[in-house]
Amino acid sequence: MGYALKRRRRSKKAAGVPLRRGRAVVVSPLRYPGAKRRLAGYVSALLELNSLKPKLFVEPFAGGASVALQLLAAGDVERIALGEKDPWVASFWKVVFFDTAWLVERVRRISVTLRQWRHFRRGGFRCDRDRAIACLFLNRTSFSGILSESAGPIGGHEQTSDYAIDCRFTRETIIRRIERIAELRDKVEFVQAGDWHRAMNRASTSGYADEDVFYYLDPPFYAKADRLYRHWFEEADHLALRDYMARLKSPWLISYDPAVEIIKLYADRSVGESIRHVDLLYSAAASAFPNPVREVVITSASRLPRATRLWRSSSEWRPRASGRMAKAS
Ligand SMILES: C[S@@+](CC[C@H](N)C(=O)[O-])C[C@H]1O[C@@H](n2cnc3c(N)ncnc32)[C@H](O)[C@@H]1O
Repeated sequence: MGYALKRRRRSKKAAGVPLRRGRAVVVSPLRYPGAKRRLAGYVSALLELNSLKPKLFVEPFAGGASVALQLLAAGDVERIALGEKDPWVASFWKVVFFDTAWLVERVRRISVTLRQWRHFRRGGFRCDRDRAIACLFLNRTSFSGILSESAGPIGGHEQTSDYAIDCRFTRETIIRRIERIAELRDKVEFVQAGDWHRAMNRASTSGYADEDVFYYLDPPFYAKADRLYRHWFEEADHLALRDYMARLKSPWLISYDPAVEIIKLYADRSVGESIRHVDLLYSAAASAFPNPVREVVITSASRLPRATRLWRSSSEWRPRASGRMAKAS
């Protein structure tokens, strides 16, 4: 960590633009483990600082896709492309955008019971529609939104806790979110199922100039990802991703859980020219010091937002004159 901090202090180019609170113009219908809703304001500030207005914003590890959706809804990027290896999640996004009415009707009518949960848990789906509703249902009825088999139903298999299986399946809210996101469908370049390479290769051959594409990557955590996702990375996968990013011509940003191994991996700039900064983002401290590190960001961009404490208490974000919530960075 010392390395990253030293580099941060030396960086003369770190600059201040107002860091907006993760503007909840759209909210993902998925309760995704490791969701990066709060990073959207940081990425937006970074784009502005570096005079980047991407024609295509690519998120190859989409999950709940919070960052891409918020930037698109706010007009910070022109179009988005999503990639995701988990076929349930990839199908979910395809159906949200391109088969919306079917999904909305299904959410409205589905019975939220333990029996249904067990049915989806057995898997064996054959089409996007089946995978999409299974993804949404299991995400909203399983512990912490975890889709992997490690998570049981909310309320337990006996349903004896204070929380029942349907307590997070808030139909009208979910439908509202799906419909709001689906309004953006004309600005979705593609949703690509499969490994991150596939989404990145497809984006790079979509006819955009390198400088018009921005890649935001949020790979599986270095630690404990096997408990959270149905697909995760081994050591060699982290290394392969680093080598690929170090040579990428388009601008990019990666967010990771704060693992020393990851910082060391990206601190080695002999592998390629495009790694410019390794930086740490903090949460609001329960006590004054030290603030817990919540995220590592690595980027090819030359200028970084000065603000690094993204996880703040509500009272720390003061309302702007316009009524929007903001805090100077
Ligand atoms: C940290 S989560 C992304 C969370 C997302 N940024 C959000 O805000 O909700 C990582 C995602 O990568 C997916 N994944 C795992 N291995 C992958 C691979 N090889 N290629 C593409 N996606 C992968 C996981 O299924 C998971 O959805």
